[in-house]
Amino acid sequence: MSTRRHPTRYLGEEYERLVRESLNWELKELQTPSEPACTVDGREVIMLCANNYLNLSTHPKVVKAMLETTGKYGAGAGSDRSIAGNMTAHEELDSHLAKFKRAPASLTYQTGFMANEGLIPQLGGRGDLFVSDELNHGSIIDGVRLTHADRAIFKHKDVEDLVRVMDEAEKHTPPYKHIWIFTDGVFSMDGDLAPLPEIAKIAEEHGAGVYVDDAHGEGVLGEGGRGIVNHFHLNHTQVHVEMGTFSKAFGVVGGHITGCEDLRNFAYNKSRTWLLSGGVPPGVATACSAAISVLESEPQHVKKVWENRNYFIKAMQDLGFDTGNSETPIVPVMCGDSKKAKNLADFIWKKGFFALPIVYPMVARDKARIRAQLCTKHTKEQLSKAVAVFEEGGKKLGLI
Ligand SMILES: Cc1ncc(COP(=O)(O)O)c(C=O)c1O
Repeated sequence: MSTRRHPTRYLGEEYERLVRESLNWELKELQTPSEPACTVDGREVIMLCANNYLNLSTHPKVVKAMLETTGKYGAGAGSDRSIAGNMTAHEELDSHLAKFKRAPASLTYQTGFMANEGLIPQLGGRGDLFVSDELNHGSIIDGVRLTHADRAIFKHKDVEDLVRVMDEAEKHTPPYKHIWIFTDGVFSMDGDLAPLPEIAKIAEEHGAGVYVDDAHGEGVLGEGGRGIVNHFHLNHTQVHVEMGTFSKAFGVVGGHITGCEDLRNFAYNKSRTWLLSGGVPPGVATACSAAISVLESEPQHVKKVWENRNYFIKAMQDLGFDTGNSETPIVPVMCGDSKKAKNLADFIWKKGFFALPIVYPMVARDKARIRAQLCTKHTKEQLSKAVAVFEEGGKKLGLI
């Protein structure tokens, strides 16, 4: 036996380091459905950190669709979609989503992460350039890392910096064959929006592709929750890939991309995560489709999440809280250093509210915050109590 090498000791050592430096995740257990009033780790709390913006995970039509399809078609797809697992439920979901997005074609994946990690690396290689907002989601970052294309970063939402990067790119010899610009639609830590019309215009001038990750925008932005492309009155010849997820506002799970027919055909022939991994269960696909139908027929959910968001952010700002650059139901409560954010999260937790502290290294050292996320089913009473508790905690910690 080697004395120099141990197969697993470093795993424990690394975990201990994370704990020592307070960088470890302490998992909490949700013991009831994901609803505003829920039980977490045995404590009755009001949820302020779910991605379930429209509370569709418990919508009767969505649940019924999952149960009925599962009863009829079974618990699993039985194969990768590329082989023998491409069920009618998957095909129907792909078409339904494209219709909802008013685009020629969509393709659904098992998760949003798998869509980004599967498709992005296939969009380019040697001789191409990938340009990325510095605060893009980890799944875009990982997708970009998997390619041989050259990479460039532009400052967060900074259109002038993007122009600089693109002008620089034009000097490259030989000229880049393809250039793609990647951006989140809604940035998940700040709740701010990408300047998509400006990005699309710059891309057009350079013949570049635009790829937007709208995981936190769809269901929330645009007409009936159609997402960021619709929100900015753009179309899929200006934004070539609109990527999203069913795991947030749609309340289920699954990723997707929307664009032209060529994109769909290319994507399912080339994305390794799609080709080499099982399709989602048919019940999941039908539940996602039912969630789209709910958005098409019940506009009140989108309206209500905005009402709740506007009420909460105004009340917090009136108290003097810094809510960063939020433009969506993601509302950061800026705390500065990580310790303050953790203390505030602890304080509100003890008072019956569950929201996550977002600390270094997820955000810059001086930009720690609590990330509050509003949803449709929050009541005014729950939200005014939350504001009162934030006020008490904020005063204690000298934030207001
Ligand atoms: C911006 C963004 N993109 C992609 C994803 C991944 O989505 P999914 O949960 O479907 O894997 C997330 C989820 O955290 C996200 O916030």
